[in-house]
Amino acid sequence: MADGSSFYITTPIFYVNDVPHIGHAYTEVAADVIARWHRQAGEDTWSLTGTDEHGQKILRTATANGVTPQEWADKLVADAWVPLLETVDVANDDFIRTTEPRHEQNVQKFLQKLYDDGHIYTGEYEGYYCVGCEEYKQESELVAGTGEYEGQLVCAIHSKPVELLHEKNYFFRTSAFAERLLALYEERPDFVQPESARNEVLGWVRSGLADLSISRSTFDWGVKVPWDETHVVYVWFDALLNYITAVGYGQDDEEFARRWPAQHIVGKDILRFHAVIWPAMLMAAGLEVPRGVFGHGWLLVGGEKMSKSKLTGIAPEQITDVFGSDAFRYYFLSAISFGQDGSFSWEDLAARYQAELANGFGNLASRVIAMVTRYCEGVVPSAGALTEADLEISAIERRATEDSWAAIERLAVHEAIAAAWELVDALNGYLTAEEPWSLAKDPAKRERLETVLAVAYHGLGTLAVLLSPVLPKATAKLWTALGAPGTVQGQRIDRAHEATLGERVSALEALFPRVEVAE
Ligand code: ME8
Ligand code: MG
Repeated sequence: MADGSSFYITTPIFYVNDVPHIGHAYTEVAADVIARWHRQAGEDTWSLTGTDEHGQKILRTATANGVTPQEWADKLVADAWVPLLETVDVANDDFIRTTEPRHEQNVQKFLQKLYDDGHIYTGEYEGYYCVGCEEYKQESELVAGTGEYEGQLVCAIHSKPVELLHEKNYFFRTSAFAERLLALYEERPDFVQPESARNEVLGWVRSGLADLSISRSTFDWGVKVPWDETHVVYVWFDALLNYITAVGYGQDDEEFARRWPAQHIVGKDILRFHAVIWPAMLMAAGLEVPRGVFGHGWLLVGGEKMSKSKLTGIAPEQITDVFGSDAFRYYFLSAISFGQDGSFSWEDLAARYQAELANGFGNLASRVIAMVTRYCEGVVPSAGALTEADLEISAIERRATEDSWAAIERLAVHEAIAAAWELVDALNGYLTAEEPWSLAKDPAKRERLETVLAVAYHGLGTLAVLLSPVLPKATAKLWTALGAPGTVQGQRIDRAHEATLGERVSALEALFPRVEVAE
C-alpha cells in the first residue's frame, strides 16, 4: 500500500469543436474511478481533465458558426464540457484550458528551451493532413473514400478527405530519441498498456521515427512561437504540454515535483502522441517521462468509433437522465474490459441495471437494512458464535478488498469491480442459505438471527466502501442508512473490510429504482 505517495492521473484534453458524447464520458469516468480509488487508499492524489482549444479544427468550426475561436471555446466549455463532469459525477481536482495564460506562457518556456538546446530546426514538409486528427498521415494510413468522397483518400478514423499540405516550418528532432524510447519500453514493460497498445507502439518506433513539424504559419489560432511570431505552435505540441503546465511546470517547482509524473488515460486513437512523441518531448527537455500511458478501447457504433465528427455520438445525459450517473459509471466500466473496444446497447444496459444493480446490490442493501429495522428495532446486533459460513463471508470481504485494489493498481478497472462483486454475490448467497426471515419466526433461534444480521451488516459496510469510487451516490446513501460515521469517501478502501460501522440503521430508499425505458 502506498500511503501518502503521490498519484497524478490525467484524461486527454478534449477538442471543443463539438459537445461531448459517451466516449468522452467513458474516459472521464474511468480516470475518475481510478483517482477516487487511489485517493481512498491514502495516496496524495491529483486528477486533471480539460479542453484543447487551439488549431485548425476549432478555428474552422468557429468560423463556420460566425464567431471567434475564443468565443466558440468559451461557450462550449461553459455549456458542455464542464457540465459533463457533473453529469457523470467526476470529482476532478483541476480543469485546464489551453487558452489559459498558465498554459500558454509555459508552452513558450518549454519550446524556447528546446530551441536553445538544439532540438528544433527549420525544414519543409509536404504530406496529407487530417484536420479531424490534427495530424499528418502516411499514405499507408489512408483508405479509399465512399459515398460523397468516392475517388478520394480519406482518414481511416474520420472517413473524411485529407488535405495535401506543403509547409516551411519548425521541426522537433523526434528521431533523435528512438533508441531511448525503445530502451524505455524495454525497461518498463508496463509503460504502455494494455499489451496490444504496447506492441503497436513498439512497431511504430522500430519502423523508424520521423521528425515532427511543430509550427504553423498559415493561420494564427494558437500559441505564438516565442522566437518567431509569424508561427503558432502545432496544436498537439501545445496540447500535450497541458499535463505539466497544469501542475506548475515553469512556475511552481514545488508543486511540479509533488505531482509529476502522471499516469495518462487516453483512447487508443491518440496513443502515438502519448506513448512516442510526448516522452520524446520530455526527454528533450530533461524531464521525467510519464508514469505510464494506458490506451483504452473505443465505444463503437456499427463497428466504427463513435465520433463527434461523424455525428454518431450519444449524449451522456440520454443515459444518465434515465438510469442515473452511478449506473452509467458502473455499466461502462464493468461491461467492457478496460483496454478493449465495446458496443453500447440500451437492452444490455437495461438488463444489467435490473439484474446487477437493482436485484443484485440494491436489493441486498434494502433487505439487510429492513431486517435490522424490523427484527432488531434498528439496532445493529452483535454476532454470537460464528459458523463456517460466517467466517467465509469475512474471508471474502478481505479477499474482495485486496483483489480489487491489486486490480486498480494494474489499471484493470473491470477486474476491480468484478472482485468487489464477488462480495455482492456471496452475501446474497449467504442470506438465501441462512434464511434470517425464517430464523426470526423462532424465538429459540434469536442468537443465530442476530449473528446472521451482524455478518450481513458488516459485509454491506465493506461493500459500500469498495463500491464508492464506482457508485458514489448509491454508496453515500447506503453509508448513511448503515449509521456509519463520517462519509463513505473518507474511508480507507485498501482496508475496507476493517471499516468502523454504526450502531443504528435508518431507512434506505431504493438505490436503483425501476426505470421506464422509452422504446
Ligand atoms: O484527440 N470511444 O481530443 P478528442 C471511447 N484534443 N473513447 C472515445 C471515443 C470513443 N468512441 N471518442 C472519443 C483529442 N473518445 C485531443 C487530445 S490530449 C493532449 C489531446 C475519447 O476530443 C478518448 O479518450 O478527439 C479519445 O482518446 C479522446 O476522447 C479524443 O478526444
Ligand atoms: Mg478525436
